[in-house]
Amino acid sequence: MTPGRFITFEGIDGAGKSSHLEAVAAWLRRRGHEVVVTREPGGTELAERLRELVLHQAMDALTEALLVFAARRDHLQRLIEPALARGASVVCDRYTDASFAYQGGGRGLDAAVLGGLETWVQQGREPDLTLWFELPPAIAAARRGAARAPDRFESQDLDFYARVAAAYAARCAAAPARFVRLDASGERAAVAARIEAALAARGWW
Ligand code: TYD
Repeated sequence: MTPGRFITFEGIDGAGKSSHLEAVAAWLRRRGHEVVVTREPGGTELAERLRELVLHQAMDALTEALLVFAARRDHLQRLIEPALARGASVVCDRYTDASFAYQGGGRGLDAAVLGGLETWVQQGREPDLTLWFELPPAIAAARRGAARAPDRFESQDLDFYARVAAAYAARCAAAPARFVRLDASGERAAVAARIEAALAARGWW
């Protein structure tokens, strides 16, 4: 059995990662792999309920972090670990890097607190590959536009997103073998081609 791989998608809101999730899943399925597409916070019934709270209910930064990690714990236990154990690959829209970026960079929560939660909740489950969609915050804000009512993160100002982006850059620098940095300002097709090249280069499939 080819081992399942855990692939995460990261970047600030508006960077365009979501439109590539299904394309990556389709690329893997064409090669005969079972693929589970999921997201964080979310992916299980409980975690989706926690997501609603995190996105729409006022709370302080530590409460927010505890809820995203509680959602992650349930998601790992009920969906991600069982999928990987049966050889499926998991394609996940956001994971722990988003907690370091948003709760750490954006909200200013101590990285050591987040590191403790990461160790405790993840039990060593790191992504095999993280696709980081990098886009200047001002361009991402313009792309988000007024398409829908903003949630508690999307309504934040450019300074917040600059801190989120800087925290993503720090995570990428700390784990260069895991990350693939994608210039999300390019054409969609060019970004897709770069992703396929990155997947193929791993030699996993
Ligand atoms: P996202 O899945 O991009 O939502 P959508 O594309 O439907 O708007 O992200 C949900 C939000 O949750 C996003 O603004 C980032 C935030 N988030 C955190 O703050 N911490 C986390 O640990 C995760 C996983 C997400």
